[in-house]
Amino acid sequence: MSRTSIVITIDGPVAAGKGTLARNIAQDMGYAYLDTGSLYRATALRLLRSGGDIDDVRAAVDAADGIQPADLDDPKLRDEGVGNAASKVAAMPEVRQALLEYQRNFARYPPNGASGAVLDGRDTGTVVCPDADAKLFVTAVVEERARRRFEELKAKGEDVDAETILADLRRRDERDSSRAVAPLAPAADAYLLDTSNLAIDSALQAAKDFIEEKLA
Ligand code: C5P
Repeated sequence: MSRTSIVITIDGPVAAGKGTLARNIAQDMGYAYLDTGSLYRATALRLLRSGGDIDDVRAAVDAADGIQPADLDDPKLRDEGVGNAASKVAAMPEVRQALLEYQRNFARYPPNGASGAVLDGRDTGTVVCPDADAKLFVTAVVEERARRRFEELKAKGEDVDAETILADLRRRDERDSSRAVAPLAPAADAYLLDTSNLAIDSALQAAKDFIEEKLA
């Protein structure tokens, strides 16, 4: 599995800030960016729309196999309900397997001739690309992540309740960390970045410093 592209992985729990960091880093370096969570979200959304049962493994694998690039841009992917359903299908080993090759291909052959790829998710540094050139694990205490998610949803005009969001995040953390296959955990060689008390600029600078050092 030789590759010439540079691969950077950014993993972490929901709403830790990894998406913002990953997008910024990819743009800065001219690399392609893949939000791997959108694959699980798209699987869940396809399943929900087809009226399928969210616990039906076969239907979930069919939904994963049928994902088209346009599905990844659907604004509905960001709904809280879809995020919750995504963490259920993501616990199915068969669904993870179905989405693995897509992610590895993206890393190996980034689109549009980019010389590298940035992937963010839960297991991109541990399972998808264990040989990545630089791995980060971004985290923050759950109360701070819930606060950020609350502000984000409120800004989008959604009618949200802070306590419900905190409870949802705790449930998803628990599901993502305790599942048997590819549980959320930092790779042994990942740089741990706790953003609980960091403004985005400082977090970005710390991430860039680490990547620069790794790629030097
Ligand atoms: O990151 P995001 O919240 O969009 O991910 C949605 C769900 O997809 C997560 O709760 C997690 O269960 C799952 N996921 C995963 N592995 C990834 C990315 C996301 O299991 N690499």
